[in-house]
Amino acid sequence: MKTAKLILDGKEYELPIVVGSEGEVGIDIRGLRSATRAVTLDSGFANSGSCSSEITFIDGEKGILRYRGYPIEQIAENATFTEVAYLLIYGSRPGADELAEFNRKLTYHSLIHEDMKNFFSGFPATAHPMAILSAMVASLSSYYPRSAIDNNELNIIRLLSKARTIAAFSYKKSIGQPFMYPSNELSYTENFLHMMFSVPAEPYRISPVMERALNLLLILHADHEQNCSTSTVRMVGSSEANIFASISAGINALWGPLHGGANQKVIEMLTRIRDDGGNYEKYVDLAKDKDSDFRLMGFGHRVYKNFDPRAKILKAAADEVLEEMGKNDPLLDIAKNLERIALEDDYFVERRLYPNVDFYSGILYRAMGIPTNMFTVMFALGRLPGWIAHWREMRLDPDGRIYRPRQIYTGSTRRDW
Ligand code: SDX
Repeated sequence: MKTAKLILDGKEYELPIVVGSEGEVGIDIRGLRSATRAVTLDSGFANSGSCSSEITFIDGEKGILRYRGYPIEQIAENATFTEVAYLLIYGSRPGADELAEFNRKLTYHSLIHEDMKNFFSGFPATAHPMAILSAMVASLSSYYPRSAIDNNELNIIRLLSKARTIAAFSYKKSIGQPFMYPSNELSYTENFLHMMFSVPAEPYRISPVMERALNLLLILHADHEQNCSTSTVRMVGSSEANIFASISAGINALWGPLHGGANQKVIEMLTRIRDDGGNYEKYVDLAKDKDSDFRLMGFGHRVYKNFDPRAKILKAAADEVLEEMGKNDPLLDIAKNLERIALEDDYFVERRLYPNVDFYSGILYRAMGIPTNMFTVMFALGRLPGWIAHWREMRLDPDGRIYRPRQIYTGSTRRDW
């Protein structure tokens, strides 16, 4: 199968076929408009590929997720987050020396310029940490202006390292505690926990359970091919905007409740059900009721029409972490009941709606003591290497061009003023 045939207005056109390394078939329409004057229409881009990419592969029917060919289950079991960041960005697993050097650089670029601390005092204590994160990341371009692709290797390190510091500082700001500076003695994830939970009078004692849970959460969020926020990063980067502006745009796209903002909405939904006597059947019915705008947050996915493999891993981890920490969380029981009921219900089965990555992640963040309004920031910290990898792949693509979709105009025809 080398071509697809299109018959339009009585004329026949042949369109080339591209086949990916996993057998995915794409109809190449790059010549369509010049040949036919017609464009395609695909609101939400559910059927359109915006690029070819070597970074992440998802098979939604089979519940498969691989970073650079490695199955997410094996990565979650064996890797550290910085190892995964290196793999996603540079395409191969780092050797011991390469990883040590990568980690060293991340350690020595964790401070933000002291002047940036003044930005925090301008935000109200109630400012959402995603507003702070996106503003601060865009502002990094004021301190590191050059964004020529070769200089970006250092800017990539700066972003990966300083985003943690900005996120932790935004938490400290929201609870009125002093900022805790990063320590060069700690690993990437330990340093984040330290900046979040240490206070001047008492350094945070690193809990191996928490460190492992954080590592797992960041890894599972690290990339997910052309999702809404990653496509946004590619879109903004395609105009040759600098990396900080591009990633800041991705942070804003992730904030939406239909995307990364869902993890915060899941906990708010589970809390609402708990406070309503734990009556989860009522909320399953509400989610099915077309007249209600209630959705089962954390359920459904544009690509996964089977279990989101990340949700499976997180569900198991939530049990383990709560047990190891000697905690139990009524919200986890409600989540499990919601999942059980929904997966037996025709409405969800027909629409192939399964728990997605956001359904269980909030239970783990809660167990770690991370406040609900920081959940989407945690998603962003995990997704950072994925966004960076796609931005870099797009900018290094010799055939790369500015994203500029067409449209079908349906407004008024010409009329005199
Ligand atoms: C993420 O793209 C990615 O990869 C994203 C992500 C990543 O790693 O980057 O995986 C992370 O964003 C996960 C998704 C988090 N969002 C939520 O959990 C919010 C709740 N889910 C939905 O809003 C919805 O499922 C989406 C947004 C995830 C997907 O939307 P689609 O593909 O446009 O599907 P749709 O809205 O057209 O729904 C299809 C049908 C509709 O019913 P009908 O009109 O056919 O009768 O399913 C229904 C929807 O009403 N439906 C739901 C539902 N999700 C879809 N009904 C109740 N509860 C839900 N959660």
